[in-house]
This record gives sequence, C-alpha cells and structure tokens, in this order.
Amino acid sequence: MDQKNTPSINLTALQAGKPKNTSVLLKRLIRSYLLPYKKQFLAAMVFMAGAAAMRGVFTHLLQLVVDGMIDKRGLAYMLGVCGMIAGSFWIRSGMVYLHTILMNRIGQRIVVNVQQQMCGHLLRSDLAFFHANSSGTLVSRVINDVMIMRQAVNECLLNSFRGGLELTALIGVMFYQDWHLTCIVIVIFPLSAFYVAKIGKKIRRLASSTQNATGDLSALLNQTFQGIRHVKAYGNEALESSRVRNLTESIYAFSLKSVHAAALTSPVMEILSSIAITALVLFGYLQVDRGMNTPGDLVAFIASFVLAYDPMKRMGRISAQLQAGLAASERVFTLLDVEPTIVNKPGAKPLTVKNFSVDLNDVVFAYPDGTLALDHLNIHVPCGKTVAIVGASGAGKSTIINLIPRFYDVQSGSVTIGGVDVRDVLLNSLRSKIALVSQETALFDDTIRANIAYGRQGASHDEIEQAALAASADSFIRELPNGYDTHVGEFGVKLSGGQRQRIAIARAMLSNAPILLLDEATSALDNESERAVQAALKKLQEGRTTIVVAHRLSTIVDADVIVVLDQGRVVESGTHADLMLQNGAYAKLYGMQKTCDDAQEGYS
Ligand SMILES: Nc1ncnc2c1ncn2[C@@H]1O[C@H](COP(=O)(O)OP(=O)(O)OP(=O)(O)O)[C@@H](O)[C@H]1O
Ligand SMILES: [Mg+2]
Repeated sequence: MDQKNTPSINLTALQAGKPKNTSVLLKRLIRSYLLPYKKQFLAAMVFMAGAAAMRGVFTHLLQLVVDGMIDKRGLAYMLGVCGMIAGSFWIRSGMVYLHTILMNRIGQRIVVNVQQQMCGHLLRSDLAFFHANSSGTLVSRVINDVMIMRQAVNECLLNSFRGGLELTALIGVMFYQDWHLTCIVIVIFPLSAFYVAKIGKKIRRLASSTQNATGDLSALLNQTFQGIRHVKAYGNEALESSRVRNLTESIYAFSLKSVHAAALTSPVMEILSSIAITALVLFGYLQVDRGMNTPGDLVAFIASFVLAYDPMKRMGRISAQLQAGLAASERVFTLLDVEPTIVNKPGAKPLTVKNFSVDLNDVVFAYPDGTLALDHLNIHVPCGKTVAIVGASGAGKSTIINLIPRFYDVQSGSVTIGGVDVRDVLLNSLRSKIALVSQETALFDDTIRANIAYGRQGASHDEIEQAALAASADSFIRELPNGYDTHVGEFGVKLSGGQRQRIAIARAMLSNAPILLLDEATSALDNESERAVQAALKKLQEGRTTIVVAHRLSTIVDADVIVVLDQGRVVESGTHADLMLQNGAYAKLYGMQKTCDDAQEGYS
C-alpha cells in the first residue's frame, strides 16, 4: 500500500520525554547560544546597569526636590536639580536604546544560528528519521519553535537581567534611604517570586502543548496540500476542514489557558503590593511624625518602591514568556540531539576501487519498526553487468536498492562494492559513484535545467541537453513554453508522470556514475516512450554495474542475471532462458504477463 495515503501523522519520534530541568535548559541555552556573543552581551549589560543606576539617581533627586521645597532652597537650586533629573532621563534613554539594539542583534543572530544548525543537522539525519517525522512537524520546529526560543532569549532572558539590575539598584537605594522600611516591604519580593515560579511550571506545560499542536497543524496542512488531488477526488474537503478545526480549536484552548495563568500574575502581585504599600505609608508616617525621617525621605522611598514594582511586575510577565521559550528550546534540543547513525566511520577512506561489482552477502535487514524486509540475502552483481530483481510487491526490491547507497545499514551481513564494505568508505564518495532513478517523484520546484543538473553540479548546458536527448526527454522539453527554463512545480506537478521519469533518467545520465540503480524507472512510461527510454537506458547501462527493479518483465529479459525475490529471500536466479527452462515462479509470472501484453497489443 502507498504509505502516503495513511492519514494519521506520526509525531511520536520527536516527542520529548520527561520535561527537562529549567536550569539544565537555561545553561545549555546560555552556553551554546549566548556565550559566543559574550562581549556584546557584556556591553549590553553595562548599558543596562547604567540605565538601572539612572533610576536610582532619579529617586535620590526626588528626595532633594521635596526637601529643597520644605527648606526653601530657592529657584536656582531647584533649576539645578531639575537639570539633573532631565539629564538622568536622557542618559537613561540613551542607554536603553543602545542596550535594545545590542540585545536584538544578539537575539536575531541566535535565530539565524539555530536555524542553520538545525537545517544542517536535519540534512545529515538518517532517512529513517524523515520516515518517522512528517516534514510539516520539522518545518514547524525550524520556524515556529526557533521564533519562540528567540523571544525567550531576547526579550525575557535579557530583559530579566535588566529588570534584575533595576530591581537591585532600587532596592539598594531603598536600603540606603531606610533599611527599617526596606525590611518591611521586601517580604513581598520572595512571596511574588515564589508565586511566579509556581505558575511558571504550569505555563511551560501549556506552552509545550500549544507548540506540539502547532507542529501537528503544520504537518496536517502540509499533508493535505500535498495530497490535494486525492482530497478533492474523494470529496474529503469537509473531513480535512474538521481536522484543521479540531487542531486550531485545541491550540486556542491551550493558548487561552496559558493566558489565564499568565494574566493571574498581575492581580496577585497587585494585591501583594497593596499590602506592602499600606504598611509602608503607615510606618513611614509614624517615622516622619516622630521626626526620624523627613517627608522627602518618605517620598523618595515610596518612589523607589513604586519604580521597583514595575521591573518586578515585568519579570513576572517575562517568566511566562520564558517558560514558553524553554518549552520551545526543549523541542529544538530534542531535534538536535537525535544523532544520525548513518555516518562516516572514523578513519573512513574514499571509495577508490576500479572494480565496481556489487555484492549483498548474507544480508539481514529490518526497518526500524521491526518489519523484516531481507532475510539472509545473497546477490552478486559483477562489474559492468546488469542484474534484474523481480518479485511481488513488498518482496524487498526497493529495500535492496536502499542498502547500496547506505540509506539504511544492514543488521547483519554486508554490502560491498569491489569487495569493500560500504560502511568503511566515506558516504560522499560512495554516493558519488551511484546514480539512482527511483519509484518516488524526485523533482524539485525549479527549472527543468536545474533539475537535470542536480545529477552533477556545474554541468554545462550542452551536457544537460545531451543527457535529456539520451533520455528521450529533449523533444518534449523543447515543446514546453519556456523549454529548459520551464518551472516544473512542487514535485514536478506540472509534468506528466512519464515526463517526470524521463527527467529523472536524464539526471542519472548526467551524473555518469559507474553504478546504476533503477527502481521501476520506466513504470510511468507508455509503450512507445518506454521503448525509446529502454534504448537509452541500455546505452547508459553499457559498462556500468546496474541493478534494475521492474514489474514489467519484458523490459528485463536480456539482463545478465534475473533474481526472483519473495519475502526478502532469493527463490530463483539465472538468465531469462535458464529461468524459463526451470519453469518455476519466474516462468509462471512471465507467462501471465505475456498473455496480458498480447491481449493489450490486440486492443491497440
Ligand atoms: N520505511 C519503511 N518502514 C517500514 N517498513 C517498510 C519501509 N519501507 C518498506 N517497508 C516494508 O518492507 C517490505 C519490503 O518493502 P520494499 O519497499 O522493499 O518492497 P518492494 O519489493 O520494493 O515492493 P514494490 O514492488 O511494491 O515497490 C514491505 O513489507 C514494506 O512494508
Ligand atoms: Mg519498491
């Protein structure tokens, strides 16, 4: 069955396990992404500290204003103090400006770095990883989660430094002004911090659910739009709409819950502050009444407290964003932590053999989900010869093709080229020796020229056209409105199946690799173009080691060896003539197909 038709989305592979410790996540965030910018970060901190200090200066100047009024210091004195107040504001705004610019530079840089790192990592990931995770989920991780992560790093982590510094400066001023009063009101800070930490956990859990659902939505949309033809053909628009509705509703519900949790921080902190301020005014009044403090002291103290309240509240709000950012970081890290298993072995060397024979030696292979696909399989393809593999659907033919360029590694036994185990050579050098034309659509949303040139970067126009000519593609390409510069659309949707296949064949021709893997390379062609392409393929096969998988047996009768596969085992092998003589499975299959073909010829 075509697995693409299965509507369920496999998201399990990347789902994070137990939520990680906040400090572990924060440490990793800071170490991996912030530390490389420590100079800029330190400069920003200096500006932040300056801005925070200016807050402290301002409250101190307020004290001078009030006491100056009471002591009737005169206009000149007041003008001087006002000048200093204005100056403190200007300096502060300049510092805030510089700090904001620097922080955003760091934050945006981090986004770019993380995205590049993720994409680099994904491109190196195993094929099995892509089979286990839908492309929509991966796209959502690279785009959405990184954005949320940036918010955490930029607005939250850094703003909380600023808030923390301001808070420290203002509390410092308060202690300096009156430590008795400070001790009374400071109780509110640990209380609110406790509350914020408690609610933070809940917010992170909700944020994580929101982000998972967003990933699901992205996967669903991706799948729906890709399969839009089938959605329409089966009249399933309403079904897909309802799936989208369910997901968007659950995103709405999760977001609302986390907004509720986050919005509660504000009133809770207001209540705590109102208690603190009442206490402050009462005690302050008593102190002024007893002559222990001047009214100026009290005003300055209250101003400090009110100003300190602002960064404290901001930090409470930031905590919610930080939690969402941590949830996103966790998802990003989970993706980055999946180590590819198909990698170059230490000390691997380029593949330098001259003899490109391909051997599967007693190969056992099961897919990650446990499906046993090849069972003690032996196949020998001599250098420059063609081996055809035939067998029922699901027999394991494509799996054999997958093992040669190491899309997967065998569980036991080995795959060798010229006697060298494919696991012992550099992946790049191995794959550069192999041209693959597969069952899947293999075109990118680019021009025909670029799609053919994908076989060998840097090929000249002439070479590209020669390859197209050899693949019987040149004539239809020239008839297209923009010829070789026609865009083929996503997966080549603007071309017919047969046209797509011929472009894929041209690409393989251009790559000029000594090993050729053809998995149903001509299955989408009509008889006439198949004959043309067969002739081209025959030319291409000359001198190349070829493994060809074909359902239509008439296309492989002159292969050097035909291997009949059943449930991952070789049941027969030999030339067409040998196998016909044996009168076994192959002969039966061939007889059946021939009857069909003859009947078809009769119709046409
Ligand atoms: N990515 C995968 N994950 C899990 N099982 C898989 C995967 N690909 C194939 N299989 C299973 O492995 C077995 C062999 O599949 P394979 O694709 O090699 O068959 P095939 O002979 O190429 O069939 P067809 O002629 O239909 O292309 C099948 O049972 C199939 O369900
Ligand atoms: Mg197959």
